[in-house]
Amino acid sequence: MHPIRICFVCLGNICRSPTAEAVFLDLVARDGLEDRFVVDSAGTSAHHVGERAHRDTRAAGRERGLEVTSISRQFVKSDFDRFDYVIAMDRDNRANLERLDPGREVHLFRDFDPESPKGAEVPDPYYSGGFTHVLDVCEAAARGLLDTLKTADAS
Ligand code: 4NP
Repeated sequence: MHPIRICFVCLGNICRSPTAEAVFLDLVARDGLEDRFVVDSAGTSAHHVGERAHRDTRAAGRERGLEVTSISRQFVKSDFDRFDYVIAMDRDNRANLERLDPGREVHLFRDFDPESPKGAEVPDPYYSGGFTHVLDVCEAAARGLLDTLKTADAS
């Protein structure tokens, strides 16, 4: 069975999607499922390509023992062929992705959190802060995503 390939996507790929990637990978490692998943993240914009995650993103992760190590890259159309799940952090970025290749399925991350209302977004902390809240939101959604995929895999 090939691993399930997941790409988390936000705008800059320096705050939310690197957090989602690190949190999801941590859950996967705790369950000993590293062989079952390939995980990446990207941004719909090219503004921060080549940069490490935002320093406050990395600091918030470190406080919980998570290393946020991704380097920003822009999502490209061919990524739709490389990933089984393309998962956007908010509706604007989902719309950007859908415009890039109309007809492709793009999920919203928080829709995997059973406690979140449908269509909920991971808030953008870049201008207004809230990096620890982003981590909390990503942890709940990542737990839901992993539970969903483990259930799907077993059936
Ligand atoms: P992210 O946050 O999409 O979660 O990485 C942002 C990063 C950069 C900008 C906006 C949001 N920006 O405008 O440069």
